[in-house]
Amino acid sequence: MKSSFINTIKEGFIAKFKSEPVLIFSPGRINIIGEHTDYNDGFVFPAAVDKGIVAGIQKSSAKASTAYAMDKDEVFEFSIHDLKTLANGSWQNYIIGVVAEILKKNKKLGNFNFTFGGNIPSGAGMSSSAALENSLVFGLNEVFNLAFTKQEMILISQRAEHNYVGVKCGIMDQYASMFGIENNALLLDCRSLEAKAFKIDFKNYELLLINTNVKHSLSDSAFNDRRLVCENVANLLHIKALRDATTSDLKTIKHKISLEDYQKALFVIQENNRVLLASKAIAAGELGTLGALIYASHEGLKHQYKVSCDELDFLVDQAKLNPHILGARMMGGGFGGCTINLIERSASKVFKTKIAKLYQHKFHTPCSIYAVTLSNGTHVTN
Ligand code: GLA
Repeated sequence: MKSSFINTIKEGFIAKFKSEPVLIFSPGRINIIGEHTDYNDGFVFPAAVDKGIVAGIQKSSAKASTAYAMDKDEVFEFSIHDLKTLANGSWQNYIIGVVAEILKKNKKLGNFNFTFGGNIPSGAGMSSSAALENSLVFGLNEVFNLAFTKQEMILISQRAEHNYVGVKCGIMDQYASMFGIENNALLLDCRSLEAKAFKIDFKNYELLLINTNVKHSLSDSAFNDRRLVCENVANLLHIKALRDATTSDLKTIKHKISLEDYQKALFVIQENNRVLLASKAIAAGELGTLGALIYASHEGLKHQYKVSCDELDFLVDQAKLNPHILGARMMGGGFGGCTINLIERSASKVFKTKIAKLYQHKFHTPCSIYAVTLSNGTHVTN
Protein backbone atom coordinates (compact mmCIF):
# COMPACT_ATOMS: atom_id res chain seq x y z
CA MET A 1 0.00 0.00 0.00
CA LYS A 2 2.75 2.41 1.03
CA SER A 3 5.02 1.42 -1.87
CA SER A 4 2.34 1.92 -4.51
CA PHE A 5 1.56 5.30 -2.94
CA ILE A 6 5.26 6.24 -3.16
CA ASN A 7 5.30 5.14 -6.80
CA THR A 8 2.30 7.29 -7.63
CA ILE A 9 4.08 10.38 -6.30
CA LYS A 10 7.29 9.44 -8.10
CA GLU A 11 5.52 8.97 -11.42
CA GLY A 12 3.51 12.15 -10.89
CA PHE A 13 6.73 14.07 -10.35
CA ILE A 14 8.45 12.59 -13.40
CA ALA A 15 5.41 13.23 -15.62
CA LYS A 16 5.26 16.87 -14.55
CA PHE A 17 8.90 17.82 -14.22
CA LYS A 18 10.74 15.31 -16.47
CA SER A 19 13.38 14.54 -13.85
CA GLU A 20 13.96 12.01 -11.07
CA PRO A 21 12.93 13.29 -7.61
CA VAL A 22 14.40 12.66 -4.20
CA LEU A 23 11.50 10.99 -2.38
CA ILE A 24 10.61 11.70 1.23
CA PHE A 25 8.13 9.93 3.49
CA SER A 26 6.92 12.06 6.39
CA PRO A 27 4.46 10.41 8.77
CA GLY A 28 1.41 11.66 10.59
CA ARG A 29 1.10 10.92 14.28
CA ILE A 30 -1.17 9.60 16.96
CA ASN A 31 -1.04 10.72 20.57
CA ILE A 32 -1.69 8.23 23.35
CA ILE A 33 -2.20 10.95 25.94
CA GLY A 34 -1.18 14.56 26.68
CA GLU A 35 -3.35 16.99 24.76
CA HIS A 36 -2.77 20.76 24.78
CA THR A 37 0.19 20.28 27.09
CA ASP A 38 2.90 20.80 24.44
CA TYR A 39 2.60 24.58 24.18
CA ASN A 40 2.62 24.70 27.98
CA ASP A 41 6.15 23.23 27.96
CA GLY A 42 4.66 19.97 29.27
CA PHE A 43 4.72 16.27 28.40
CA VAL A 44 3.07 14.43 25.51
CA PHE A 45 3.08 10.80 24.39
CA PRO A 46 2.86 10.64 20.59
CA ALA A 47 4.03 8.15 17.97
CA ALA A 48 4.55 8.43 14.22
CA VAL A 49 2.30 6.19 12.10
CA ASP A 50 2.62 4.48 8.74
CA LYS A 51 0.35 7.01 7.08
CA GLY A 52 1.43 10.47 6.07
CA ILE A 53 2.83 12.53 3.23
CA VAL A 54 5.03 11.33 0.38
CA ALA A 55 6.88 14.10 -1.42
CA GLY A 56 9.18 14.27 -4.43
CA ILE A 57 11.62 17.15 -4.69
CA GLN A 58 14.39 18.32 -6.99
CA LYS A 59 16.30 21.50 -7.81
CA SER A 60 15.04 23.34 -10.86
CA SER A 61 16.73 25.63 -13.35
CA ALA A 62 13.42 27.34 -14.15
CA LYS A 63 12.79 30.99 -13.22
CA ALA A 64 10.24 30.05 -10.54
CA SER A 65 9.57 27.23 -8.08
CA THR A 66 6.60 24.92 -8.49
CA ALA A 67 4.65 22.92 -5.93
CA TYR A 68 2.13 20.36 -7.11
CA ALA A 69 -0.53 18.95 -4.77
CA MET A 70 -1.34 15.67 -6.51
CA ASP A 71 -4.46 14.84 -4.50
CA LYS A 72 -6.04 18.15 -5.42
CA ASP A 73 -4.38 18.35 -8.84
CA GLU A 74 -3.39 21.93 -8.06
CA VAL A 75 -0.19 23.61 -9.21
CA PHE A 76 1.37 26.55 -7.40
CA GLU A 77 4.13 28.59 -9.02
CA PHE A 78 5.97 31.06 -6.86
CA SER A 79 9.15 33.04 -6.53
CA ILE A 80 11.23 32.23 -3.47
CA HIS A 81 12.23 35.92 -3.40
CA ASP A 82 8.68 37.22 -3.29
CA LEU A 83 6.70 35.01 -0.94
CA LYS A 84 3.08 35.94 -0.28
CA THR A 85 0.58 33.93 1.70
CA LEU A 86 -2.76 33.00 0.16
CA ALA A 87 -6.22 32.86 1.76
CA ASN A 88 -6.53 31.20 5.17
CA GLY A 89 -6.67 27.43 4.90
CA SER A 90 -4.68 27.22 1.62
CA TRP A 91 -2.17 24.38 1.42
CA GLN A 92 0.19 26.77 -0.33
CA ASN A 93 0.78 28.63 2.94
CA TYR A 94 2.64 25.62 4.37
CA ILE A 95 5.01 25.75 1.41
CA ILE A 96 5.48 29.52 1.60
CA GLY A 97 5.99 29.30 5.35
CA VAL A 98 8.68 26.63 5.28
CA VAL A 99 10.60 28.38 2.49
CA ALA A 100 10.34 31.76 4.24
CA GLU A 101 11.52 30.36 7.56
CA ILE A 102 14.51 28.66 5.90
CA LEU A 103 15.47 31.93 4.20
CA LYS A 104 15.32 33.71 7.57
CA LYS A 105 18.18 31.42 8.61
CA ASN A 106 20.33 32.95 5.88
CA LYS A 107 20.54 29.70 3.97
CA LYS A 108 20.89 29.74 0.21
CA LEU A 109 17.99 28.21 -1.66
CA GLY A 110 17.50 27.98 -5.40
CA ASN A 111 14.35 27.19 -7.31
CA PHE A 112 12.88 23.73 -6.89
CA ASN A 113 10.04 21.47 -7.93
CA PHE A 114 7.95 19.75 -5.29
CA THR A 115 5.16 17.18 -5.63
CA PHE A 116 3.26 15.71 -2.71
CA GLY A 117 0.31 13.55 -1.81
CA GLY A 118 -1.02 12.10 1.40
CA ASN A 119 -3.03 9.24 2.81
CA ILE A 120 -4.23 10.83 6.03
CA PRO A 121 -7.37 12.87 5.53
CA SER A 122 -6.76 16.49 6.55
CA GLY A 123 -8.75 17.35 9.65
CA ALA A 124 -8.32 13.85 11.07
CA GLY A 125 -6.24 15.26 13.92
CA MET A 126 -3.29 13.14 12.77
CA SER A 127 -1.10 16.06 11.75
CA SER A 128 -1.04 15.95 8.00
CA SER A 129 0.14 19.57 8.21
CA ALA A 130 3.22 18.79 10.28
CA ALA A 131 3.95 15.90 7.90
CA LEU A 132 3.76 18.26 4.93
CA GLU A 133 5.97 20.90 6.57
CA ASN A 134 8.53 18.29 7.61
CA SER A 135 8.57 16.66 4.17
CA LEU A 136 9.42 20.01 2.58
CA VAL A 137 12.05 21.19 5.03
CA PHE A 138 13.63 17.71 5.03
CA GLY A 139 13.55 17.58 1.22
CA LEU A 140 15.05 21.05 0.81
CA ASN A 141 17.70 20.16 3.35
CA GLU A 142 18.59 17.12 1.22
CA VAL A 143 18.71 18.70 -2.22
CA PHE A 144 20.34 22.00 -1.21
CA ASN A 145 22.65 20.51 1.47
CA LEU A 146 21.47 23.00 4.07
CA ALA A 147 23.01 21.08 6.98
CA PHE A 148 20.07 21.56 9.33
CA THR A 149 19.74 19.19 12.25
CA LYS A 150 16.38 17.45 12.69
CA GLN A 151 15.72 19.65 15.68
CA GLU A 152 16.31 22.79 13.64
CA MET A 153 14.01 21.43 10.96
CA ILE A 154 11.07 20.86 13.30
CA LEU A 155 11.42 24.36 14.68
CA ILE A 156 11.31 25.70 11.11
CA SER A 157 8.15 23.67 10.47
CA GLN A 158 6.58 24.99 13.66
CA ARG A 159 7.42 28.61 12.86
CA ALA A 160 6.00 28.15 9.36
CA GLU A 161 2.73 27.15 10.98
CA HIS A 162 2.79 30.02 13.49
CA ASN A 163 3.77 32.77 11.09
CA TYR A 164 2.28 31.75 7.75
CA VAL A 165 -0.62 29.41 8.57
CA GLY A 166 -1.66 31.27 11.70
CA VAL A 167 -1.93 28.35 14.12
CA LYS A 168 0.13 28.80 17.29
CA CYS A 169 0.75 25.06 17.61
CA GLY A 170 3.10 23.38 20.05
CA ILE A 171 5.94 21.12 18.96
CA MET A 172 4.36 17.67 19.43
CA ASP A 173 3.26 17.08 15.84
CA GLN A 174 6.45 18.15 14.13
CA TYR A 175 8.55 16.29 16.70
CA ALA A 176 6.65 13.00 16.43
CA SER A 177 6.57 13.17 12.64
CA MET A 178 10.33 13.81 12.42
CA PHE A 179 11.64 11.62 15.25
CA GLY A 180 9.18 8.69 15.32
CA ILE A 181 10.58 5.21 15.98
CA GLU A 182 9.04 2.02 14.62
CA ASN A 183 6.90 0.20 17.24
CA ASN A 184 7.56 2.92 19.81
CA ALA A 185 5.74 5.87 21.31
CA LEU A 186 7.74 8.83 22.60
CA LEU A 187 7.38 10.39 26.01
CA LEU A 188 8.42 13.89 25.01
CA ASP A 189 9.35 16.72 27.32
CA CYS A 190 8.29 19.71 25.24
CA ARG A 191 10.55 22.06 27.19
CA SER A 192 13.85 20.23 26.80
CA LEU A 193 12.79 18.41 23.60
CA GLU A 194 14.17 15.24 25.10
CA ALA A 195 12.17 12.09 24.50
CA LYS A 196 12.13 8.61 25.96
CA ALA A 197 11.05 5.84 23.61
CA PHE A 198 8.59 3.25 24.92
CA LYS A 199 8.18 0.02 23.00
CA ILE A 200 4.47 -0.39 22.54
CA ASP A 201 3.22 -3.91 22.87
CA PHE A 202 -0.29 -3.92 24.25
CA LYS A 203 -0.48 -7.73 24.12
CA ASN A 204 -4.09 -8.66 23.41
CA TYR A 205 -5.08 -5.00 23.11
CA GLU A 206 -4.64 -2.59 20.23
CA LEU A 207 -5.09 1.06 19.38
CA LEU A 208 -7.96 1.85 17.08
CA LEU A 209 -8.69 5.25 15.58
CA ILE A 210 -12.18 6.34 14.66
CA ASN A 211 -12.43 9.43 12.50
CA THR A 212 -15.57 11.49 12.96
CA ASN A 213 -14.90 12.91 9.49
CA VAL A 214 -15.87 16.32 10.77
CA LYS A 215 -13.75 19.38 11.34
CA HIS A 216 -15.75 22.19 12.86
CA SER A 217 -14.93 25.68 11.69
CA LEU A 218 -13.18 28.16 13.97
CA SER A 219 -11.03 25.38 15.37
CA ASP A 220 -7.85 27.37 14.57
CA SER A 221 -8.97 30.48 16.37
CA ALA A 222 -10.30 28.41 19.28
CA PHE A 223 -6.88 26.76 19.46
CA ASN A 224 -5.08 30.11 19.57
CA ASP A 225 -7.55 31.39 22.20
CA ARG A 226 -6.79 28.41 24.45
CA ARG A 227 -3.09 29.06 24.14
CA LEU A 228 -3.57 32.68 25.12
CA VAL A 229 -5.55 31.71 28.23
CA CYS A 230 -2.72 29.41 29.33
CA GLU A 231 -0.11 32.11 28.77
CA ASN A 232 -2.12 34.67 30.72
CA VAL A 233 -2.51 32.33 33.67
CA ALA A 234 1.20 31.52 33.60
CA ASN A 235 1.97 35.26 33.63
CA LEU A 236 -0.26 35.78 36.64
CA LEU A 237 1.58 32.98 38.40
CA HIS A 238 4.95 34.51 37.42
CA ILE A 239 6.09 31.29 35.81
CA LYS A 240 7.34 30.53 32.31
CA ALA A 241 4.61 28.04 31.47
CA LEU A 242 1.82 26.05 33.13
CA ARG A 243 4.11 23.05 33.25
CA ASP A 244 5.70 24.77 36.25
CA ALA A 245 2.42 25.09 38.18
CA THR A 246 0.74 22.79 40.67
CA THR A 247 -2.97 22.73 41.39
CA SER A 248 -2.34 24.51 44.70
CA ASP A 249 -0.39 27.28 42.93
CA LEU A 250 -3.36 27.75 40.68
CA LYS A 251 -5.73 28.10 43.62
CA THR A 252 -3.76 31.15 44.83
CA ILE A 253 -4.89 33.18 41.80
CA LYS A 254 -8.35 31.66 41.42
CA HIS A 255 -9.99 34.97 42.40
CA LYS A 256 -8.13 36.80 39.63
CA ILE A 257 -9.45 34.74 36.71
CA SER A 258 -12.79 33.54 35.37
CA LEU A 259 -14.04 30.11 36.34
CA GLU A 260 -13.69 29.02 32.69
CA ASP A 261 -10.04 30.01 32.55
CA TYR A 262 -9.40 28.40 35.92
CA GLN A 263 -10.80 25.11 34.60
CA LYS A 264 -8.71 25.34 31.46
CA ALA A 265 -5.48 25.89 33.36
CA LEU A 266 -6.43 23.16 35.83
CA PHE A 267 -6.97 20.79 32.93
CA VAL A 268 -3.46 21.45 31.59
CA ILE A 269 -1.86 20.79 34.98
CA GLN A 270 -3.88 17.59 35.45
CA GLU A 271 -3.30 16.39 31.88
CA ASN A 272 0.41 16.88 32.28
CA ASN A 273 0.33 14.65 35.38
CA ARG A 274 -1.72 12.07 33.51
CA VAL A 275 0.98 11.75 30.86
CA LEU A 276 3.57 10.88 33.48
CA LEU A 277 1.21 8.43 35.16
CA ALA A 278 0.41 6.88 31.78
CA SER A 279 4.08 6.31 31.02
CA LYS A 280 4.46 4.54 34.37
CA ALA A 281 1.38 2.42 33.67
CA ILE A 282 2.75 1.41 30.26
CA ALA A 283 6.14 0.54 31.72
CA ALA A 284 4.40 -1.64 34.33
CA GLY A 285 2.04 -3.20 31.78
CA GLU A 286 -0.97 -1.85 33.67
CA LEU A 287 -3.33 -1.33 30.78
CA GLY A 288 -6.39 -0.85 32.98
CA THR A 289 -4.73 2.17 34.60
CA LEU A 290 -3.69 3.51 31.21
CA GLY A 291 -7.25 3.17 29.95
CA ALA A 292 -8.67 5.02 32.96
CA LEU A 293 -6.24 7.89 32.36
CA ILE A 294 -7.29 8.04 28.72
CA TYR A 295 -10.97 8.28 29.69
CA ALA A 296 -10.12 10.95 32.27
CA SER A 297 -8.25 12.92 29.60
CA HIS A 298 -11.38 12.98 27.46
CA GLU A 299 -13.52 14.17 30.36
CA GLY A 300 -11.13 17.07 30.91
CA LEU A 301 -10.94 17.94 27.22
CA LYS A 302 -14.72 17.95 27.06
CA HIS A 303 -15.76 19.67 30.28
CA GLN A 304 -12.75 21.76 31.30
CA TYR A 305 -10.77 22.60 28.18
CA LYS A 306 -13.91 22.54 26.02
CA VAL A 307 -12.37 21.37 22.76
CA SER A 308 -14.55 18.32 22.09
CA CYS A 309 -17.74 18.12 20.03
CA ASP A 310 -20.89 15.97 19.86
CA GLU A 311 -19.43 13.54 17.35
CA LEU A 312 -16.32 12.86 19.45
CA ASP A 313 -18.34 12.60 22.67
CA PHE A 314 -20.71 10.13 21.06
CA LEU A 315 -17.83 7.86 20.04
CA VAL A 316 -16.30 7.99 23.52
CA ASP A 317 -19.68 7.34 25.18
CA GLN A 318 -20.18 4.29 22.98
CA ALA A 319 -16.68 3.06 23.84
CA LYS A 320 -17.52 3.34 27.54
CA LEU A 321 -20.44 0.98 27.07
CA ASN A 322 -18.10 -1.68 25.69
CA PRO A 323 -16.38 -3.81 28.37
CA HIS A 324 -13.58 -4.69 25.91
CA ILE A 325 -12.46 -1.08 25.62
CA LEU A 326 -10.19 0.12 28.41
CA GLY A 327 -10.01 3.78 27.35
CA ALA A 328 -11.04 6.19 24.62
CA ARG A 329 -10.64 9.91 24.04
CA MET A 330 -10.53 12.60 21.41
CA MET A 331 -7.07 13.03 19.92
CA GLY A 332 -5.27 16.16 18.71
CA GLY A 333 -6.47 19.74 18.81
CA GLY A 334 -10.17 18.85 18.95
CA PHE A 335 -13.45 20.05 17.39
CA GLY A 336 -13.46 16.97 15.18
CA GLY A 337 -10.92 14.47 13.93
CA CYS A 338 -10.38 11.07 15.56
CA THR A 339 -10.87 9.29 18.81
CA ILE A 340 -8.19 6.87 19.97
CA ASN A 341 -9.43 3.64 21.59
CA LEU A 342 -7.56 1.01 23.56
CA ILE A 343 -9.51 -2.11 22.68
CA GLU A 344 -9.16 -5.85 23.10
CA ARG A 345 -8.05 -7.22 19.73
CA SER A 346 -10.62 -10.01 19.65
CA ALA A 347 -13.46 -7.53 20.18
CA SER A 348 -12.32 -5.07 17.56
CA LYS A 349 -14.19 -6.46 14.58
CA VAL A 350 -17.59 -6.53 16.28
CA PHE A 351 -17.10 -3.04 17.71
CA LYS A 352 -16.09 -1.60 14.33
CA THR A 353 -19.25 -2.89 12.67
CA LYS A 354 -21.42 -1.69 15.52
CA ILE A 355 -19.93 1.78 15.86
CA ALA A 356 -20.05 2.37 12.09
CA LYS A 357 -23.76 1.63 12.11
CA LEU A 358 -24.53 3.69 15.22
CA TYR A 359 -22.52 6.69 14.00
CA GLN A 360 -24.19 6.67 10.60
CA HIS A 361 -27.59 6.45 12.23
CA LYS A 362 -26.89 9.30 14.63
CA PHE A 363 -25.07 11.77 12.35
CA HIS A 364 -26.22 10.67 8.87
CA THR A 365 -22.62 10.52 7.72
CA PRO A 366 -20.07 7.71 7.99
CA CYS A 367 -17.13 7.52 10.38
CA SER A 368 -13.84 5.96 9.22
CA ILE A 369 -11.88 3.41 11.18
CA TYR A 370 -8.10 2.90 11.05
CA ALA A 371 -5.75 0.45 12.71
CA VAL A 372 -2.35 2.05 13.25
CA THR A 373 1.20 0.80 12.91
CA LEU A 374 3.86 2.83 14.69
CA SER A 375 6.55 3.87 12.27
CA ASN A 376 9.83 5.73 11.76
CA GLY A 377 9.95 9.50 11.38
CA THR A 378 10.61 11.58 8.25
CA HIS A 379 13.12 9.91 5.93
CA VAL A 380 14.31 9.55 2.36
CA THR A 381 12.57 6.64 0.69
CA ASN A 382 12.49 4.99 -2.72
C1 GLA B 1 -2.57 20.29 17.55
C2 GLA B 1 -1.27 21.10 17.68
C3 GLA B 1 -0.32 20.44 18.67
C4 GLA B 1 -1.02 20.16 20.00
C5 GLA B 1 -2.35 19.46 19.78
C6 GLA B 1 -3.15 19.34 21.05
O1 GLA B 1 -2.32 19.05 16.99
O2 GLA B 1 -0.63 21.19 16.43
O3 GLA B 1 0.83 21.23 18.85
O4 GLA B 1 -1.16 21.34 20.72
O5 GLA B 1 -3.17 20.13 18.83
O6 GLA B 1 -2.51 18.51 21.94
